[in-house]
Amino acid sequence: MYSEKVMDHFTNPRNVGEIADANAVGEVGNPTCGDIMRIYMKIEDGVITDVKFKTFGCGAAVATSSMATEMVKGKTIAEALALTNKAVAEALDGLPPIKMHCSVLAEDAIKAALIDYYKRQGIDPKPIVGFDSVAEMECCHGDLHEACQHA
Ligand code: FES
Repeated sequence: MYSEKVMDHFTNPRNVGEIADANAVGEVGNPTCGDIMRIYMKIEDGVITDVKFKTFGCGAAVATSSMATEMVKGKTIAEALALTNKAVAEALDGLPPIKMHCSVLAEDAIKAALIDYYKRQGIDPKPIVGFDSVAEMECCHGDLHEACQHA
């Protein structure tokens, strides 16, 4: 069911933990299953110099977070924002379709951390990250719908 890479990142996850002096912290929940992910980043001169994560999540959430943190470490904010859950899943040689929603947690947590990063500096994150807040991102994912309070 799972690729060797998924099993490797699940049994030996990279970048687990916290960063005491993080200047960007993002926490998101998965509405499908209730799992939670928190990501800590140290950003210097627009580059993510360190990143760690903690999750109350399933194996696929652990594996995708591990891979996602590896993929954004040492990268610019713009590069991190361009990372999609599909790219993370591909880097893991795929996920079973019913577990694709788990990979959204990692992508969202990275964006949540970057929303926090700009808010701490008094900068509106919307033009850069695409969302005013984590609540807006989790609600509509940019696809504004009838029930959305953020339209
Ligand atoms: Fe919740 Fe995978 S089942 S993140």
